[in-house]
Amino acid sequence: MARKQTSKGITDWDNKLKALRFLFGEEQDRRLVMQILGRDPNDKASDDKTVGSIADMLPKWHTSNPTGSVGKILTDAIVKQWMALGSSAHEAAIRQAFIHENCAQLMALLPPEKTKGLPTFGTKRPHSELIPLWVIPRRPHHDENADPLNPDTEFDQKYLYDSPAAARVWERMALGGAYSVYTQCQESLQRLVQRPAWRAALESGHFGGLVILGAGAPHKERVLLNSLCQLVPASVGDPLCSLVDFNKPMLDVSIHQLFPDLKADQLWANRGLQIVPFGIDFNDMNRVNRGGLIRLRTEKNVVWVIPGATYGNLDLQKFMTSLRNEALPGDWLVIGTPTVLENGITEQEKKAIRNAFLSGQVSDLLKNTLTTAWLHWHRNINEATFQEILNSIHVDISANDNPVPGTWDIDISIKINETDHFIAKSRRFELQAWSEWMKKYGFEYQFDIDVLESTYKQVVFELKAS
Ligand SMILES: C[S@@+](CC[C@H](N)C(=O)[O-])C[C@H]1O[C@@H](n2cnc3c(N)ncnc32)[C@H](O)[C@@H]1O
Repeated sequence: MARKQTSKGITDWDNKLKALRFLFGEEQDRRLVMQILGRDPNDKASDDKTVGSIADMLPKWHTSNPTGSVGKILTDAIVKQWMALGSSAHEAAIRQAFIHENCAQLMALLPPEKTKGLPTFGTKRPHSELIPLWVIPRRPHHDENADPLNPDTEFDQKYLYDSPAAARVWERMALGGAYSVYTQCQESLQRLVQRPAWRAALESGHFGGLVILGAGAPHKERVLLNSLCQLVPASVGDPLCSLVDFNKPMLDVSIHQLFPDLKADQLWANRGLQIVPFGIDFNDMNRVNRGGLIRLRTEKNVVWVIPGATYGNLDLQKFMTSLRNEALPGDWLVIGTPTVLENGITEQEKKAIRNAFLSGQVSDLLKNTLTTAWLHWHRNINEATFQEILNSIHVDISANDNPVPGTWDIDISIKINETDHFIAKSRRFELQAWSEWMKKYGFEYQFDIDVLESTYKQVVFELKAS
């Protein structure tokens, strides 16, 4: 059992000592010290008083600071050894990690090939055991809002992805490169993580993780995770990435692709990282925090990211209220979205948008949802009538100041018994009016990232203290 650590001694010393023995292949104290000091352990003449003093202290450094002359010799020797082993960390960072950070963080400063086979001393899991901890609360068995063919209820479009079949259609469409918003979003995220402001924020030590709202985009999640692991300083501890999506099949799309990649990647071998998929509604995020056992976010600031065009699909007032309750001042919010200029959408653009929704894979996605719903709920509608419903999908594009001024809505509906039923919404925002609206929830516009030849943007907000 690990001994009690006092704030005076070297942090996590028992584990560090075990790791040093493993690294230098030496169990015997004096021989270990000679190796750390860069001496030949078989050379009797090198085994002097300094070696003896350091060896005597090996059982004691968990409670004593290495600030005396003996401790300083040891610390300098560790720094020298780490550099000789190819560490690219700064001397001060190695010194800091040796004295004040835990064993895994000190070992993370060595090149991965030098720590190959090193057992995990302490609380970290080795990367080969990187497994997601799923948080999927029970859902009600019967939810009227999950039925797009029910004329009496407003369909909630989070159910568009509520089946393995729907997730497969999404995967084919988005990951296959046929969905332009997916690629525009990925490109702009790649540019975002290169921005000095982003790098400075994550390197500042104030940020402890990411909350990604909406799964199913492993390429983009990967861009964000790489940046998180590269930039968050080791002193912050393992960064946390929460991946939130109401639909487990969509979380599966991400996790099935991300985890094998992460395991194969040396970056993760070297750096602790927690990834937690949450199967919850964005509008009910405090549901997970109520139990208190599993955290959706870190106590440090987090970056909330809502990629794709998902933000524009949501009930914005409900979503912003839910987010405001979970966010802390200093948190960032990155929203990926198509935008419009002040003069709105031209007739030609409307035609292109309609085409995109009515033909090809976006319409496959909608039809798949409707088919699943029909099989599930409406066995009494005959196939011919259902085909009519499928063919009745239509797209309405109009300016709508409610709730965000200057916005254009793209509403998709179907006709059942001559009545229109809404099944999906997408929005395009006018940046200035939208930024003004976001202030109502405390979020202030910081900067945005464009994508060439498109109206798509990543827009970065910060929650200000009220
Ligand atoms: C367009 S899809 C995937 C977008 C993907 N993240 C991207 O970046 O391209 C939108 C995702 O948001 C999820 N979603 C929509 N509304 C939600 C809500 N209210 N709560 C939780 N997840 C929701 C859906 O399940 C779906 O997986």
